[in-house]
Amino acid sequence: MTMYAPAQSADGRPLVELREVSRSYGQGGPPALAGVDLRVAAGECLAVLGPSGSGKSTLLHLIAGLDRPTGGSVTVDGLRVDRLGEAASARYRRSRIGLVFQFFQLLDDLTVVDNVLLPAQLAGLPRAEARRRAAELLERLGIARYAGTHPGRLSGGERQRVAVARALMNRPALLLADEPTGALDSAAGDGVRELLAGLNADGQTIVLVTHDLRLAAACATRTVELVDGRVVRDAGVAA
Ligand SMILES: Nc1ncnc2c1ncn2[C@@H]1O[C@H](COP(=O)(O)OP(=O)(O)OP(=O)(O)O)[C@@H](O)[C@H]1O
Ligand SMILES: [Mg+2]
Repeated sequence: MTMYAPAQSADGRPLVELREVSRSYGQGGPPALAGVDLRVAAGECLAVLGPSGSGKSTLLHLIAGLDRPTGGSVTVDGLRVDRLGEAASARYRRSRIGLVFQFFQLLDDLTVVDNVLLPAQLAGLPRAEARRRAAELLERLGIARYAGTHPGRLSGGERQRVAVARALMNRPALLLADEPTGALDSAAGDGVRELLAGLNADGQTIVLVTHDLRLAAACATRTVELVDGRVVRDAGVAA
């Protein structure tokens, strides 16, 4: 058993494949997603745009295995994510997915470095290797000087860097981000836009959901637009 997935699927299959995916909440309202077909290749940075309520977060949650479709299939890195039980789903997120949210979701009782170490500890990575990796990430993301600080003392932009470091700790095949600049001012947003663009340039596959057109412009190799739970536009972004 390998605990750590390779950085990208190497056999030409799409890393992410959604087929006819729908998600209804069964209250007679319109479905959050309706018949979405989507493939993401390794190395892409896909930005999912669309108005509020169009299903963007729902889509991200389905890819992360945090929610299940009511129809269709979700395959990531060869794994039928929509069929995983609870434990396998948690293991999948731990080993193959990095998640970044609008409001960081860091643990304020832990220091920055302990926040970043947490996913590796949960995955059982040897402590020395985990420490080495965490130090490397903090350095790369420009937050090494905050290693012993508690996240509550950092700015929004710095906190989001810590959250990205944590998300990258287990070398995920796929980084998922939901409005990663949504809570940041313009300058801090610029830093995170550059950071994500740099990670993608280094080969990290990213799917991000955002209202931030500057983020899409800075980072995305392709954008899709959702309206009322359907993909209405799918376009590469000229480099
Ligand atoms: N747990 C839930 N129960 C019922 N309806 C839900 C639930 N979660 C989402 N929805 C509905 O599904 C639709 C899509 O929601 P979603 O959160 O995916 O939109 P979004 O595009 O991320 O919006 P925003 O840009 O505001 O974050 C909305 O109409 C929403 O009300
Ligand atoms: Mg949302």
